Amino acid sequence: MSLASVIHSEEKLLLPTYDRHKILFEKGRGVYLWDSHGNRYLDFLSGIGVNALGHAHPAIQATLKRQAGRLIHVSNLFFHEYQAELAKRLAKISGLDRIFFCNSGTEAWEGALKLARIYARTRNTNGHKPKWRILALDNSFHGRTFGSLATTGQAKYRDPFVPLLPGVGFVRFNDVDDLKHQFDAGVCAICLETIQGEGGVCPVSPEFLQMARKLTESSGALLILDEIQCGLGRTGRYFAYQHYGIQPDIVTIAKPLAAGLPLGAILTTNRVASSMHPGMHGTTFGGGPLACAVAIEFLRELNKLLDHVREVGGYFRAQLEWLKAKHSCIREVRGMGLMLGLELESADTAKAVVSVLLKNNILINRTHETVLRFLPPYIIQERHVNKVVQALDSALTSVASKRRHVATRAVVHAHKPTSKESQ
Ligand SMILES: Cc1ncc(COP(=O)(O)O)c(C=O)c1O
Repeated sequence: MSLASVIHSEEKLLLPTYDRHKILFEKGRGVYLWDSHGNRYLDFLSGIGVNALGHAHPAIQATLKRQAGRLIHVSNLFFHEYQAELAKRLAKISGLDRIFFCNSGTEAWEGALKLARIYARTRNTNGHKPKWRILALDNSFHGRTFGSLATTGQAKYRDPFVPLLPGVGFVRFNDVDDLKHQFDAGVCAICLETIQGEGGVCPVSPEFLQMARKLTESSGALLILDEIQCGLGRTGRYFAYQHYGIQPDIVTIAKPLAAGLPLGAILTTNRVASSMHPGMHGTTFGGGPLACAVAIEFLRELNKLLDHVREVGGYFRAQLEWLKAKHSCIREVRGMGLMLGLELESADTAKAVVSVLLKNNILINRTHETVLRFLPPYIIQERHVNKVVQALDSALTSVASKRRHVATRAVVHAHKPTSKESQ
């Protein structure tokens, strides 16, 4: 099938929710993807943080083949051999006790919000109204379903769908005073991304996270961390919160967990988990044998890659800092490990750079209008970083010179004498 015929069919048949780049990908291997014309692309986006082991990883392929030939799905009415094994591994690396498996990030987040509400209700034994308010952060992103939208602090995602879940308040990002001001005994959870992804690759500050932990601990509320994008090795540790020396009550994960198959999870403590009972929450597909078997394999591979993510991530960051010193249109370098962002002076500049890189067969994306986001597979090497940095260097130079040219022409045009003045 050609790209043109796929576009033609999709335009007629799909909900118009995506504005796709006009590329038809046909295969991938390692850090590369190939399109229908045989062009090779360097993948520094990994399907928005999903393909952490790159494409067609041999261990993942082998597990997929073996398990697909044995058992793909049984539903959660029965046991299979992989959920407990995967849960054991996740509990060990997170320091949490109990896991619920689902299919996506937004589902994990919905479940976490339900858990916060039911925990508050079961702890409320004194006849008062249970805690029910939720504090989320400005600029956050937690997914597209209603609970996730209700806690997402960006008008462009929320506004078309109001009214949303009531009881959610938004705190200014990293503003400790605002957090203290908005927190009260009615709050059942403070929830946030340890590093905001769609909000522009913004790590929460240690002071803010520590205050969120302190407030929730002292009032019996929960601290819920969304590590759907920043968790599972992306920052060079198993979880981003492990850089901060705090332990949350609930963590949500998804994206890379099953190396490209849909799988999400809620991780929590025994204390919080004890408020859930059979029938209160569930899923048909979540935690099936195929996805769980692959996720176990992913975690085995991840063990071998954490040091590498820290090293190559440090190298990449240093290169981005070098670019910042050279190009005045770069405002800031942000992120940790292999979740990095470059904030540029304007949305137009960021858009232009992404498209120049795409023309050079390098995949990155733009988030929060002005931020170039890099979420490469954990297996990248310094030579791949060098290639991307060189491409960024020349893209930033050419975009800046075009903008200067346009600006000069505008000034010349503005000062050009009119025919009357020149007489
Ligand atoms: C931090 C965060 N939370 C939640 C989600 C939603 O995940 P999904 O698209 O799998 O529903 C995303 C997706 O980008 C995310 O980055």
